[in-house]
Amino acid sequence: GREPAPSRLAVAQAYAEHGWDLGTTDAALAAWVLEVAELTQPDEIVWCDGSRAEADRLFKLQVANGQLIKLNPEWRPGSYLARTDPKDVARVEARTFICSESEEDAGPTNNWRDPAEMRAELKGVFAGSMRGRTMYIVPFSMGPLGGSISQLGVEITDSPYVVVSMGIMTRMGRRALDLIEDGRTWVRTVHSVGYPLVDAEGIHRPEVAWPCNDTKYIVQYPQDREVWSYGSGYGGNALLGKKCFALRIASQMARDEGWLAEHMLIIKVVSPAGRAHHIAAAFPSACGKTNLAMLRSQLPGWRVETIGDDIAWLKPDASGRLRAINPERGFFGVAPGTGESTNRSAVETLWGNTIFTNVALRDDGDVWWEGLTDEKPAHLIDWRGEEWTPDSGRTAAHPNSRFTVAAEQCPTIADDWEDPDGVPIDAIVFGGRRATNVPLVLQARDWKHGVFLGATIASEQTAAAEGTVGALRRDPFAMLPFCGYNMADHWGHWLRIGEKLGANAPAVFQVNWFRKGPDGSFLWPGFAENMRVIAWIVGRLERTADAVDVPIGRVPAQASLDLDGLELSEDALERLFDVDQTAWLAECDLTEEFFARFGGRVPAALTAELEALRYRLTR
Ligand code: GDP
Ligand code: PGA
Ligand code: MN
Ligand code: MN
Repeated sequence: GREPAPSRLAVAQAYAEHGWDLGTTDAALAAWVLEVAELTQPDEIVWCDGSRAEADRLFKLQVANGQLIKLNPEWRPGSYLARTDPKDVARVEARTFICSESEEDAGPTNNWRDPAEMRAELKGVFAGSMRGRTMYIVPFSMGPLGGSISQLGVEITDSPYVVVSMGIMTRMGRRALDLIEDGRTWVRTVHSVGYPLVDAEGIHRPEVAWPCNDTKYIVQYPQDREVWSYGSGYGGNALLGKKCFALRIASQMARDEGWLAEHMLIIKVVSPAGRAHHIAAAFPSACGKTNLAMLRSQLPGWRVETIGDDIAWLKPDASGRLRAINPERGFFGVAPGTGESTNRSAVETLWGNTIFTNVALRDDGDVWWEGLTDEKPAHLIDWRGEEWTPDSGRTAAHPNSRFTVAAEQCPTIADDWEDPDGVPIDAIVFGGRRATNVPLVLQARDWKHGVFLGATIASEQTAAAEGTVGALRRDPFAMLPFCGYNMADHWGHWLRIGEKLGANAPAVFQVNWFRKGPDGSFLWPGFAENMRVIAWIVGRLERTADAVDVPIGRVPAQASLDLDGLELSEDALERLFDVDQTAWLAECDLTEEFFARFGGRVPAALTAELEALRYRLTR
């Protein structure tokens, strides 16, 4: 429990005594900021208003400190390059903790710590962690300001890189603070890079290009709706509105309040008949969400518009339909593999006003990464700041290097992407990176079967988190690192939402762009050609595309998947949809083992789905 709040006068006096700026009329916010400031001991407190002038000042400051490189405005106006510490390049799942009251509520797929013990430990860790630094107070809204599905938060941070990034990724500043001061609820998040510039004895140490700490903590208190992050400046570890709030905390809020917070892109698909359908799709990190969100159709008559590329909040509306918003305002996208031929929309989005992190620097002051152009530049400075030539034998950009850019710059952004009430979702798609077994596309038999598909997704690990790239792991709902409570309860929640939606429930599909042939190359061309799969999915919604039952679901009937003009051999097509009985029975055994990890908590409907699948495979 929290201690009783001090009086307004006592709070104001304390700010004055420290010489700190009291930037809000909200007593609870002022008292909380004071509490964190007295713990972390910053030099000053800056209340962020989200203005252009504020961002410009913070960019200038970081360039002067050697923390950002200003790119050549001729090629990349208003844009900057950050190079992180080589040990701070991805989310740290092993240091991510869910501190629910009971360990069972966090479940076997999360790292659980007792909340009281963790609070005591973090008090020691954060004590004096902002000495010599400025503490920024960053009020923000996830989702359109004041929207019916939106939520407010405040991030306290000692990183100006985080402030400017939050300025791109969220609706940040004065207008969010106004809503908080109007009395709306908000989520508390605290971040420190863990690199004080003055130690306990008052000895100064020099600033560095990327301050961070070898010890990291990414801590969620789901019951208190609170986040504490220490030691990392990187993406999902530090921009606390994103994974920590919009997924880990929000999934818990959503469970309690009857909605869904998911690791999903949202697109609007317009068919040749001019009909619009909205699709939400969950793929693990670095498995193609941003690419699908910005797909440029080459299939005549079809168009895809972008609504979100990473996170969706979905809520049943008064008429019983599921509506979704993108709670973010920008894209934090994977750079490598983003090029004219793969994702032209992203390349166009990045024309300026972009923060690049861990990509390579060209001699002309622009940026480069693997896949941006077919031809490699003759000379670069790589992501570590070292000389690089094509025969260096290493990549110039880090595999998890990223761009941070406002969504409104995306040429394919949908005109209803900021609808405060969200868009109606017609289909939900699950995906992952699977070299074997999983077909290009299939439809679930019904909602329960769809939840089973989501619950049993496995994917080869990518560079987006620390770990062994390529290792196959279960990543249910693409939420393994992001579900703020017991994953099995999450499946139960999805089943309940399905019951509530009834006949209005979206159709559910599974896709796999990453199946490989015997020579190890991808069988499916992917990227823009994924439009063909999306067109089949829409065809199912409009009842114009046929499907046939196979044991694992419904796959496109002969000729119902438009392959016109595509160079795809009969052999590749067959392999893309091959369902190998032995391999799938082995998958069933692995699913049984996976379910067993959750004890008795797996919903009976899902164990029944597993048995039904086994039956269909052996029949
Ligand atoms: P996100 O992290 O889920 O948003 O994934 P991205 O869209 O950023 O893609 C991650 C990586 O997968 C990039 O290197 C992409 O080039 C690659 N990728 C995306 N879509 C496809 C596809 O359809 N086929 C193949 N082979 N690779 C893809
Ligand atoms: P991604 O987002 O899903 O676009 O990779 C960042 C992450 O999940 O770490
Ligand atoms: Mn993500
Ligand atoms: Mn992405």
